[in-house]
Amino acid sequence: MLHFLNFYFYFLLIQQELALITKPRERFENYAIYEVTAFNARERALLYYLYVKNEELVFLNGITNEAAVPIDVIVDKCCTNFFEEKLRDDDIEFVKINEKFLAKSKDILCIENHWDGTHTPNITNAFYYWDAIQFWIDSKIKHFPKLTKIKIGETYEKKEIIVLKLSSGHKKSAVFVLGGEDGRDRVSPAILLNFIDYILQHRLNVDMLIKHHDFYILPMLNPDGHDYSMKDFVWARNRKIYFPKKRCSTNVSGIGINLDRNWFFSKETLRNEECDPVFSGSKSLSEEETMSLANFLNNHSLQLLAFINLRSFDDLVTIPYGYTTDQANNYPILMEIITSVHEKVKEEYGKSFFYGATSSYFYNYTGNVADWVKKKLNTPIVYTIYMNNMEYIYASPEDIQPMTDRFSTMIKEILLLGNTIYSPLFGNQNRHCLHVIVMLINIICTITL
Ligand SMILES: *[C@@H]1O[C@H](CO)[C@@H](O)[C@H](O)[C@H]1NC(C)=O
Ligand SMILES: *[C@@H]1O[C@H](CO)[C@@H](O)[C@H](O)[C@H]1NC(C)=O
Ligand SMILES: *[C@@H]1O[C@H](CO)[C@@H](O)[C@H](O)[C@H]1NC(C)=O
Ligand SMILES: *[C@@H]1O[C@H](CO)[C@@H](O)[C@H](O)[C@H]1NC(C)=O
Repeated sequence: MLHFLNFYFYFLLIQQELALITKPRERFENYAIYEVTAFNARERALLYYLYVKNEELVFLNGITNEAAVPIDVIVDKCCTNFFEEKLRDDDIEFVKINEKFLAKSKDILCIENHWDGTHTPNITNAFYYWDAIQFWIDSKIKHFPKLTKIKIGETYEKKEIIVLKLSSGHKKSAVFVLGGEDGRDRVSPAILLNFIDYILQHRLNVDMLIKHHDFYILPMLNPDGHDYSMKDFVWARNRKIYFPKKRCSTNVSGIGINLDRNWFFSKETLRNEECDPVFSGSKSLSEEETMSLANFLNNHSLQLLAFINLRSFDDLVTIPYGYTTDQANNYPILMEIITSVHEKVKEEYGKSFFYGATSSYFYNYTGNVADWVKKKLNTPIVYTIYMNNMEYIYASPEDIQPMTDRFSTMIKEILLLGNTIYSPLFGNQNRHCLHVIVMLINIICTITL
């Protein structure tokens, strides 16, 4: 009890102090990055409280459950003493990442849109605003008939939400890859555009994949948030203005819904206060972005072999579910596939990543889009892939190509194994048959494990 009073006292202090900040976060040098480790439920609960209540403490990927996976937090320099005192007081381990660590990342925050508005931008050497990316997409579509664009909806700021389809003609089992759900995640859109380019340019043998699959790639679900994040580098949500207008203590928190949290199943983990950093929205799929994507996926569900949710700020692959400790019906198979992918990535790039059930990696998490796809559509292969530069919290443009290479290897391996197991389901059989076979495989797995 004493602990909690103490904790609450600090919380109030932080609230008051931080309420003074209203400017968007523009430059890295005004912020510090911490790696925090939570070893037990008490520590996680304390951090969770800070996380959901303080817009000014930015937990890049929420609270991880695993002590092995550090929790990255961005804190305004004005408030680092408060944060550190708070952590020390509660015996929570942390490391402040030194300036050198930030040195490389620093320049990407000053990135302006160098795009001149007339030439096709080079998507390999910079991060761009949505208009430049659209220009790139349209110029590729002109040259490559395999590539087509499907508009599935419009954002709050009336930007197009588009799915890019790569297909060699005949209808095949489909692979859907989603990127750019978080505004601040520049990495996943960049990887996906480059991945499309790899297919079109026949690089790394990824073009072989469209012999067996139709690809649907949604490079940026949240273009409103993405463009805004060029001014405020931690911005994750969309840019919807609440109606009626909500006044929050910090000016920045009165706008936007966290799309990653807008798919939810769990009412317990729901944040339905507008001023909380993890505002989930008033109801599931309340947003144009999530609703259009849900409709599109629903329309293509019979064809869907694999769904990949690509995100940033970690080196981790998670398997549904996150909203419950129950596992996906084919969890053993998904584990087997990703174990093999991990071996392959280690062998080719000398890099490791964590992998396992979402609920074992994320604390008190609402069901994300991967949970939704698994639960509602029963798509066989569903992963959330978090990719990073591994050395720096914010990747720089020179990381785009190495990350695309790694992503290409991962997706090739996932589809190679996944297709071997599940391709019989995508002939002329109907969906009932699929369900029966998935159930059978599941039963066999349960028996053999
Ligand atoms: C785009 O940028 C990359 C990385 O800087 C470079 O290797 C490549 O040659 C550039 N492509 C074009 C078409 O200029
Ligand atoms: C609050 O945010 C709005 C919209 O982003 C902006 O126009 C306004 O200047 C901000 N107010 C302060 C005090 O920063
Ligand atoms: C999980 O989140 C909900 C909503 O924010 C909160 O009420 C609950 O206390 C959290 N549970 C734990 C164990 O922290
Ligand atoms: C889904 O299919 C329905 C019926 O064919 C169509 O009206 C709707 O526009 C489609 N939605 C998306 C997002 O593809």
